[in-house]
Formats: sequence, C-alpha cells, structure tokens
Amino acid sequence: MTAQILDGKKLAKQIRTELAEQVTRFAAETKVTPTLAAVLVGDDPASDVYVRNKRRDCAEVGIESILHRLPAETSQSELLSLIAKLNIDSQVHGILVQLPLPKHINTEQVLEAIAPTKDVDAFHPENVGRLVQGRPVFLPCTPHGVVELLKRNNIPIAGKHVVVVGRSDIVGKPLSIMLAQKGADATVTLCHSRTQNLPEVTRLADILVVAIGKPNFITADMVRPGAVVVDVGINRTDAGLVGDVDFDAVSKVAGHITPVPGGVGPLTRVMLLINTLSAARVSSQ
Ligand code: GUN
Repeated sequence: MTAQILDGKKLAKQIRTELAEQVTRFAAETKVTPTLAAVLVGDDPASDVYVRNKRRDCAEVGIESILHRLPAETSQSELLSLIAKLNIDSQVHGILVQLPLPKHINTEQVLEAIAPTKDVDAFHPENVGRLVQGRPVFLPCTPHGVVELLKRNNIPIAGKHVVVVGRSDIVGKPLSIMLAQKGADATVTLCHSRTQNLPEVTRLADILVVAIGKPNFITADMVRPGAVVVDVGINRTDAGLVGDVDFDAVSKVAGHITPVPGGVGPLTRVMLLINTLSAARVSSQ
C-alpha cells in the first residue's frame, strides 16, 4: 500500500484565499485592519524563521503585523510592560509571543499577562479552561490545524479511535481534549514517554497523531495498515527537517499520511490568521 498524502501546503493556500476575502469584507465594513503584534525575544534562528513566515502569511491575506524584536537580555519586567502596552492598544487585536523565550524569562507569567481577548495562540489559562469546557473563543493553532486537515480531507473523526502521542500543552493535551469533545466525538488515547507497550497502543489507532519531538520515532510496525498518520514533529537533523514519523517506511503501511514539511505546519500558521481576524471581529463589536 502507498499512503495518500495529506497536502497541508495546498490546503493552507486555499484557506488563505478564503481568508483574504473575509479580511477584505471585514475591513470594508468596519474600517478596521486586523492587526497582529508579534513579539520576538532573542535571536533563536528557528524562531526568526517562524515569525518571518507568520508575518508573510499575514501580509498575504491583508492582516497587518507589527514586529517587536527585543534583545535576548530583555528582563521579565520589560517584557511584561510591552505586553501591558499591547493589551491596551486598541489598534492591536492579536498578540503573539514567540516561544521558546530565553531561559531567564518566566514563560507562564508572560503568557498569563496577555489579555485573553488578544491571546491568538490560546495559551492563556482562561482560554485553555474555556477549551476544556467546550466554549472556546480561540482554538490553539496546531491542534486546530490538525482537525481542519482531517475535516477538509473528508477523514471521519466521530467514533474513531485517535491515538495522540505526546502530551505537550501546545499540541497533545489540547488536541486530545478537542477530539474527545461533543461534535468531534472521537475516542482518544493520549500516550507519552511513560506509556507502556506503546507500539501495541499506536497500532489500535484509526488516526495516529504524533507530536513528541523525536525524529523518525514512529516506525512502520507501530502503525495499523490503512491508518491515518498525522506527523506534527519538526526536527532539525543533519539530514534536514524531518518529522516524528519514519515517512518512507510508514507511508507503505498507512492509508493517509502528512509530509514534513508541508503537512501540519502550514495549517498551524493559517489558524493564527483565523484567530487574528476573529480577535478583530470581537474587538469591533
Ligand atoms: N513556538 C513553537 N510553536 C509555537 C506556537 O504555536 N506559538 C508560539 N507563540 N510560539 C511557538
């Protein structure tokens, strides 16, 4: 068997075209240009690329983005005062603080300082709580990207067994909650580094989502023939960017598979645009 590729790059492009029309209509009706403030602290090269790509996406759909680039030595209180300023700036609808932050910064405190109504990453405890209760204002970008990728490729989720590997606050935890929620209706198993007999569990998956941050961690023997495999991993190795799934081997077993790059990543970025437009809509009501 050769798996069908779930092309996130192409789908993201299509959604951006839809979004550009929505942004144009919104701006015509309200005279407001949706605006994202991106905060980048330090000079991590990967973060630099991520933020540049996010700003390019914004420009493509007509969202304004303002970059606040701060030196690595920025103190906690300097960063908090920038966020406080952005919170009360009526021209700014979304605030994104690129992670990871330098080691001396308390990330939790920074994320909690962002006004929940401008929290387009949906990392604030209030937004996480709302998600858990099934009444989110913003959906977290990567989990939302995974769900949208499945839905728009007509992959049924309701009643299916989804096995999520990785329990991070950004991906695994919120995704497992979203998929088990009424409406999505999946049966979810959340695995992590301490899961026993992991291959036995992953082989139960109709849909296997992997976000564990280990290159080529999922091998062909861990996948049920015909399963849908979604690879959220982005690992920089000597061989270039690779996912958490051994793509060459697993694509011979799976029914559907996402490539890395060009799978989940482009959709994650699109969801940030959706959240920024939605933040602008809320603030202009
Ligand atoms: N760093 C890696 N992923 C993300 C993300 O989704 N949002 C932010 N702000 N930083 C990240």
